[in-house]
Amino acid sequence: MSHSHLQCCINPSILSADFVNLEAELARISNADAVHVDVMDNHFVPNLTIGLPVVERLQKVSPIPLDVHLMISDVDRWAPQFADAGMSSVTFHVEASDAPIKLARELRARGAKAGMALRPATPVEPYLDMLDEIDMLLIMTVDPGFGGQAFLDVMLPKIRRARAAVEGSGVNVAIQVDGGITEETILRAAEAGANIFVAGSAVYGRPSPADAIESLRANGQLAFGYAAIS
Ligand code: DX5
Ligand code: ZN
Repeated sequence: MSHSHLQCCINPSILSADFVNLEAELARISNADAVHVDVMDNHFVPNLTIGLPVVERLQKVSPIPLDVHLMISDVDRWAPQFADAGMSSVTFHVEASDAPIKLARELRARGAKAGMALRPATPVEPYLDMLDEIDMLLIMTVDPGFGGQAFLDVMLPKIRRARAAVEGSGVNVAIQVDGGITEETILRAAEAGANIFVAGSAVYGRPSPADAIESLRANGQLAFGYAAIS
């Protein structure tokens, strides 16, 4: 399948940044498409990060849009408040939502793009009929909770099936991947059909996060081109 029509976006995750210097850490990735903000509640996932007050402050000082990834329970109650705080996109886990279609509509009504995330063990097929209701599908390529884990190649067929469904139905839905994205694994994820790439350690773990973003973007675009030739 040709991917030459896709736009390749790199969204660094501030989970791997220095939490004491977040404003400066944002300035280091100003050439990224958006900043990925991981919100964890130590309930939906076994880790705890930041909540709404900190995210609201990040929104005020960030030079680029915020892409918030909510790894929290009771998400139907919380997610709309993140949309109200001016997020470019708000992504909820479908496993944590009681009413995902209602929630996606609420997020859009509040001016945010609606993202829906799937854990690695959650199949995509039950959700293909609601693609029209969302702007982004996040296919987790690690079990959520921690940065620095290895990319799960076993997710590649799921990315391919999701891309085929998006192209087949003609909807405008981005496919995001999150977890273990490096200059090497981005090639396979992009070839499979993902077009928004979250990278934490492969950006903030490098001497120059800005250079790392450009390398990741170049490889993503390369893989889209390879797919067009084959
Ligand atoms: C994991 C988070 C990711 C994490 C990715 O649960 O959702 O966004 O920051 O980190 P890396 O890129 O290091 O796997
Ligand atoms: Zn994330």
